[in-house]
Amino acid sequence: MAVPRILMVCLGNICRSPMAEGILKHRAEQLGIDIVVDSAGTSDHHQGQQPDPRAMAEMRSNGIDISYQRSRPFLTADFDRFDHILVMDTSNRSNVLSMARSETDRQKVSLILDHGNAVKGHSVPDPYFDDGFGRVYELLDYACGAFLEKLH
Ligand code: 4NP
Repeated sequence: MAVPRILMVCLGNICRSPMAEGILKHRAEQLGIDIVVDSAGTSDHHQGQQPDPRAMAEMRSNGIDISYQRSRPFLTADFDRFDHILVMDTSNRSNVLSMARSETDRQKVSLILDHGNAVKGHSVPDPYFDDGFGRVYELLDYACGAFLEKLH
């Protein structure tokens, strides 16, 4: 079977989606599950930048290095390159869905917290202005675990 390809998407691709990419890769490696994971932002404002130092520090304290990542914008071509597009919040979802060309594209998109959550529709809070990186890690770690269980 083809290796599943997953794209994490947030606004700037310097806080939440880089953390989600790092966590999902790490968990998959630990379980010996072969997947491809990348991340992108709906804005190109931080293109080429390393993840936010606070995101890197939170991840490092959990044993995961994301310093190699660089921000890049979400592209229409990502609908062709990925099987699952996991967005962090409802605004990311609107932005990504506005670029979808077909029902096939639309069906690839889901809120990351809808995986493993009985209550649907919740967003990962943006930690850029309030420093809530520890809470973001917890939410993403749980959601990534639930996503991998369903994938397998
Ligand atoms: P992210 O966080 O979408 O999780 O990467 C943000 C990064 C930058 C900004 C907002 C959110 N910004 O306004 O520059």
